Amino acid sequence: MMQLTPMMKQYMDIKKNYQDCILFFRLGDFYEMFFDDALIASKAMEVTLTGKSCGLEERAPMCGVPYHAADTYIAKLINKGYKVAICEQIEDPSTSKGIVKREVVRVITPGTVVSQTMLNENENNYLASIFLDETGAGIAYCDISTGEISTTELRGQRNIERLLNELEKIRAKEIIANEAVALDGLLDDLKENNNAYFSLLESRYYNKNTSVEVVLRQFNVKSLKGLGIEEMHLAVMALGALLSYLFETQKQNLSHLSFLKVYDTHEHMSLDKSTIRNLELTESMFDKKVQGSLLGVLDRTQTAMGSRKMKQWIREPLNHLPEINERLNSVELLVENILLRNNIKENLKKVYDLERLSGRIACGNTNAKDLIALRNSIFVLPDLKSELSACGDPLLEELEKNMDSLTEIYELIDKAIVDDPPYTLKDGGLIRSGYSNELDQLKESILDGQNWIASLEVTEKERTGIKSLKVGFNKVFGYFIEVTKSYFDMVPDNYIRKQTLANCERYITPELKEVESIVLNAETKINQMEYELFIEIRNYIKDYIQKIQRTSLAISILDVLTSFAEVSSKLGYVKPQVNNDDIIIIEKGRHPVIENTIRHGIFVSNNTYIDRENNSMLLITGPNMSGKSTYMRQTALIVLMAQIGCFVPADSAVIGIVDRIYTRIGASDNLSQGQSTFFVEMSELAYILNTASDKSLIILDEIGRGTSTYDGLSIAWAVVEYLCSSKGRIRTMFATHYHELTALEGHIKGVKNLNVDVQEKDGNIIFLHKIIEGSASRSYGIHVAKLAGVPQQLLHAAENKLNELEDSGASINLKKYTKTLEEEDAELKEETEQISFFDFAPNPVLEKLKSLDLMNITPSKAFEILEELKKAAEDQTGLKQGL
Ligand SMILES: Nc1ncnc2c1ncn2[C@@H]1O[C@H](COP(=O)(O)OP(=O)(O)O)[C@@H](O)[C@H]1O
Ligand SMILES: [Mg+2]
Repeated sequence: MMQLTPMMKQYMDIKKNYQDCILFFRLGDFYEMFFDDALIASKAMEVTLTGKSCGLEERAPMCGVPYHAADTYIAKLINKGYKVAICEQIEDPSTSKGIVKREVVRVITPGTVVSQTMLNENENNYLASIFLDETGAGIAYCDISTGEISTTELRGQRNIERLLNELEKIRAKEIIANEAVALDGLLDDLKENNNAYFSLLESRYYNKNTSVEVVLRQFNVKSLKGLGIEEMHLAVMALGALLSYLFETQKQNLSHLSFLKVYDTHEHMSLDKSTIRNLELTESMFDKKVQGSLLGVLDRTQTAMGSRKMKQWIREPLNHLPEINERLNSVELLVENILLRNNIKENLKKVYDLERLSGRIACGNTNAKDLIALRNSIFVLPDLKSELSACGDPLLEELEKNMDSLTEIYELIDKAIVDDPPYTLKDGGLIRSGYSNELDQLKESILDGQNWIASLEVTEKERTGIKSLKVGFNKVFGYFIEVTKSYFDMVPDNYIRKQTLANCERYITPELKEVESIVLNAETKINQMEYELFIEIRNYIKDYIQKIQRTSLAISILDVLTSFAEVSSKLGYVKPQVNNDDIIIIEKGRHPVIENTIRHGIFVSNNTYIDRENNSMLLITGPNMSGKSTYMRQTALIVLMAQIGCFVPADSAVIGIVDRIYTRIGASDNLSQGQSTFFVEMSELAYILNTASDKSLIILDEIGRGTSTYDGLSIAWAVVEYLCSSKGRIRTMFATHYHELTALEGHIKGVKNLNVDVQEKDGNIIFLHKIIEGSASRSYGIHVAKLAGVPQQLLHAAENKLNELEDSGASINLKKYTKTLEEEDAELKEETEQISFFDFAPNPVLEKLKSLDLMNITPSKAFEILEELKKAAEDQTGLKQGL
């Protein structure tokens, strides 16, 4: 019977434990893949599929990549969603007997990448871990390329929604979770909403004692109390699983994951995923690029760490006044002090990605070039520190204190490593002379021999008279003497022929070989010694990782603040006045992105006033394309910018802190997402109504469009009433094409009509983009149709029809159904009940929608409900008659 070769047996034994990975099996200078792995990998990496005899009748499918180019190939596999297990030879093949020992030294997964070729420098590479049980959810996530690690826990109401929102903010590349996540269709939701590699881990990862143990060990503490998570069972479970998973894949200590950040999701303004998208915070809706987003405008950071920090800040605006003011004050100083700002910028330009570098040092992945980059970055620190110390701003001075000048490391690298070292570590050329006596002596000892070989060509030419004689070197023969054909008869007796080429012959001499062996042996020794010295240096630096991390964190924050100041100063932003009141007053506000991208004309600034009394519900009407959406988004963006600590595009701004911004962009404006059904719209609305607090800001853009006019109007009306109910009027901006709603001003407290001014001239309209008080007189739909090029004949017909409709009184007048505020007040005095929309026209569709618990519905159930709703909507003749 045929048997596997011993090497193939070894392969099979190892592969058995890594079924879910592509196994990179090291063979000399190559990594090879066999069988199914080869079939998959050859395709994914675009390399040739061949075969290898493996002892069986048929050759094993095989493909391979050279080890020095492995990173690029691994990146391809990771990007296509595979995991890669790296199996190395762990003993020296030249000294081992029989088959070389091999072991998997690392498993690379999308969330555990550290190699530079696989990372985007402006983006964190997060691995997130979720632990879910009936009491709530624990989240832990880390970026092992930077050393960042954080955890939180969600308990109480609406865990699942908050979990989804939190993950939207983190945007992990890989997510691990316990089995509970597979229930209730949550996994499908997670998969749909996150572009991440997903794995459900076995229950052994979720043992309470083990979790506590690994957490204590990792952060080197005696009790969870020290970490501030002793009461956070769910967070500990998520964190424990995260760490265990890391140990199993990385197979080494990750000492740089040392500062655990424990956060509370209420510390930050919460932004759900549609808001992050609708406001185009970090990428544009249209082409998903940074350009065209708020980030695109604000990011003028100089370092990669700063750029990543900027993204984090934009996704996590602050809720606490002191912290907001702290940032705003620093930005103010940097706006005013141009010299300081420029000096900081110049220094930051020279700073390398210290955060990722410390990650690589911790993982033992640094080369000598990295250390030179580290040295060059450290070089600017004293300067940066002296700029900031005593600059008079508390936050900047604190950042300065957190920067370590890292002098010891600078001196060490400067003394030890040559300025332009090679990428490889084992071929010498790394260590400066003067650093190690032993190394210098060794190098000196072969100088004689090297000089002798170097001068051999000249001396032998002279001695033999062969003019074309050359001394060369190749890997197979070592040093040789080359003589061309025409001089063959002059070759001396002591030359020993080694190789015949077309035009020449190559010789050696016993003496040459003797010197060569001394030189080559010594060179091997030198290279080995240089390598060892390098590793020693790298290990020494490992002890400084926490200092480097603290320094790089301070630098990243400084970078963001400086970038805010730079943009604010260049684009004419002002410092907002932020407070804990409920009023938002913006004078001459602009949309930060559109004002930069507008092609012709200039951006028209607009004022905003919202409070929780008489101006809580701004109803904005006006023709299409007049600027309603822009106005609302600009308000939301200005609030958000103030709360991340940036100046704002306005002449002045007073911002009463907002705990959440919600946006709902109606079906017609949201076609790009391709799923703008009425159901989606209504479920988002339900979500807003159910979760908004009296500190929230709600942007509703054309909701209710996806259904019949009566339905849509009824829903819009009910929404206005709901959000203006006296128990908690919530600040809302509502752009609507239902002109009928404007009748509610004066009837419902809080409602304020605004419209966008247009000029009519000879039957044409000119958009002025100016927001004015009052309701739009007409909707100008026909004018817009004209602008869009709809045929003249059709426009006439439409105009006639419109006139007929208006004359016949077919339009709806809500005033009939509501009382004025004065009437209401009078009635209240008589202790009568306030009339509500729901009292006289109960809408079963709405009632049903409000009662839905969306997170606990399966897709098939959702469809069933949708059918019911549709039927109910069709049956609503009662309501139509009522109107
Ligand atoms: N304040 C403004 N100043 C200048 N141009 C504006 C302004 N507001 C909007 N626009 C322009 O008008 C276009 C349509 O604006 P948008 O807000 O989408 O209109 P609406 O929501 O009313 O249909 C924008 O893309 C922009 O080019
Ligand atoms: Mg719009």
